[in-house]
Amino acid sequence: MMNIIFYHPTFDSKQWIDGISKRLPQAQVRAWQRDDMQPADYALVWQPPQEMLASRTSLKGIFALGAGVDAIITQEQRHPGTLPAGVPLLRLEDTGMSLQMQEYALATVLRYFRRMDEYQLLQQQKQWRPLTPHQHGDFTVGILGAGVLGSCVAEKLIDMNFQVRSWSRSLKDIPGVKSFFGEEQLYDFASGCKLLINLLPNTPQTAGILNTNLFAHLREHAYLINLARGAHLVEGDLLRALDSGQIAAATLDVFIEEPLPGMHPFWSHPRVSMTPHIGANTLPEQAMDNIAANIRAIEEGRAPTGLVDLTRGY
Ligand code: NAP
Ligand code: GLV
Repeated sequence: MMNIIFYHPTFDSKQWIDGISKRLPQAQVRAWQRDDMQPADYALVWQPPQEMLASRTSLKGIFALGAGVDAIITQEQRHPGTLPAGVPLLRLEDTGMSLQMQEYALATVLRYFRRMDEYQLLQQQKQWRPLTPHQHGDFTVGILGAGVLGSCVAEKLIDMNFQVRSWSRSLKDIPGVKSFFGEEQLYDFASGCKLLINLLPNTPQTAGILNTNLFAHLREHAYLINLARGAHLVEGDLLRALDSGQIAAATLDVFIEEPLPGMHPFWSHPRVSMTPHIGANTLPEQAMDNIAANIRAIEEGRAPTGLVDLTRGY
């Protein structure tokens, strides 16, 4: 008998317990509760309380119920031992998130490219004023992060005739996309970009990367779309760049503090558009298919997908 424990602060535990039990009939799946010290082979978690995993060194895998694992890694750094030594941490790769990110990115890029944001402001002022259209040749899109999500977004924008470049740690070969890599190529990447999309993981190397220095290398009146984590953005730097016009407008899905506090200036800024961290939701059925397949792989001695490299932080 295999034992699986589940913890998510907001998901419907019953849906997940039933769904995993259906996919893995040999497993006993239970919602973890405080003081549950009973043995377990696998854990499915999001923002787990510190005591849930600490000392569970006999786990064969910990499955994060999302793509980004920064919260769990940060918790381990603050409270060493949160993640039991030697137990693999796995994350969701795609499981329906790529399509959602493509939709979000394409909708937002087109909104700025076709100047719909400006027409919305003009409508509020009852102004009938055709604006000079942006041209594809002057509207290079740069994507920070060319992993599972960044590369799919790049492909979608290429399909729509945009000039696209990406920045990652290693060189990429995505048809039609100019690849930049490593810290030393960051500003070359940025220079010439009219619109920047962030799809990096949040790590000590990438936190605060959306800052005044980077904005200064973009084209004048550039656009920003942050789809990754709030910690990537230096919020005061964005407000200053919006004031100076260096950044024309920004769309933000993620924030340092979520939900965004009611007094935050982003709520009412005319050039900031916001969504409440819905860029790409975890889709239960696809995520459960992926996790069940990975558990089967581990049980059969095959390599699972989505292994996190704890030293890299993603
Ligand atoms: P991924 O496959 O791990 O891709 C990460 C990319 O970032 C890789 O291309 C990697 O380069 C690059 N990278 C990492 N550290 C770097 C550094 N120091 N310098 C340059 N490039 C660096 O991750 P993913 O699945 O695409 O997800 C990306 C992030 O999206 C997640 O971590 C999460 O924070 C965010 N996310 C947000 C939502 C939402 O709803 N808003 C939903 C899902 C995910 P290499 O390829 O060279 O390693
Ligand atoms: C959501 O933000 C995720 O990382 O899956």
